[in-house]
Amino acid sequence: MLKQQMLYEGKGKKLFATDDMDLVIAEFKDDLTAFNAEKKGNEAGKGELNCQISTILFELLEKNGIKTHFVKRLDVQNMLCKKVSIIPIEVVVRNIATGSLTKRLGIPEGNVLSQTLVEFYYKDDALGDPLINDEHCKILSIVSDDRDLEFLKSQARQVNAVLKDFFDLKNLRLVDFKLEFGRDKDGHIILADEISPDSCRLWDKQTNEKLDKDRFRQDLGSVKVAYEEVLKRISK
Ligand code: TMP
Ligand code: ASP
Repeated sequence: MLKQQMLYEGKGKKLFATDDMDLVIAEFKDDLTAFNAEKKGNEAGKGELNCQISTILFELLEKNGIKTHFVKRLDVQNMLCKKVSIIPIEVVVRNIATGSLTKRLGIPEGNVLSQTLVEFYYKDDALGDPLINDEHCKILSIVSDDRDLEFLKSQARQVNAVLKDFFDLKNLRLVDFKLEFGRDKDGHIILADEISPDSCRLWDKQTNEKLDKDRFRQDLGSVKVAYEEVLKRISK
């Protein structure tokens, strides 16, 4: 598979065209950003870790009937993916209160939510990715059909059910995570982007130690060590 011109550079990945117009290569970067890129860093080897972790999780989800853009991992840092047109909604799923939920609603940090919460954020850096509801999605013409929003929510809940059980077996609590979806060449909505400690919060089940990007956001140190620990646990 030939890596051709770069199509797009995001905060965590570069996307390249290939000799197949329906496929792209995602190269996972070592860059770290937080708070809408107000805080920037770099951790050598982080891209490789996220590429490997995402591969394991996409393969797990595919096995459990979730359609994703994942085709195969090409090497340590490069993933072959179906080309999609990204739907500009960040779908956040929460099991435990922390982060912006705690700030916005005052739910104490670490409280287990009485039910899983699915939220939509408008993927727009200039606006700071604001929280939106179903009606905003339609007014903004992000989707035209209520069924698409219901599909995103049900997919997000299914992903949560699979990942939560999987991480639990690996002695990790899946606190919350962010998903992105896209439309493939036939217009079908499939899971895209990545699933990694950059986009999930994972706490050790016994100690609640944070093993995700909060280590960078909150200056806790040992970012790479934490990501390595996640990879080690889920590889077993
Ligand atoms: P939040 O508590 O900051 O809203 O984050 C919720 C989840 O979404 C958390 O697992 C981190 C992830 N996330 C991203 O992947 N990208 C983002 O831009 C933001 C704000 C959060
Ligand atoms: N991904 C976002 C950024 O780079 C925010 C975050 O994950 O905290 O700014």
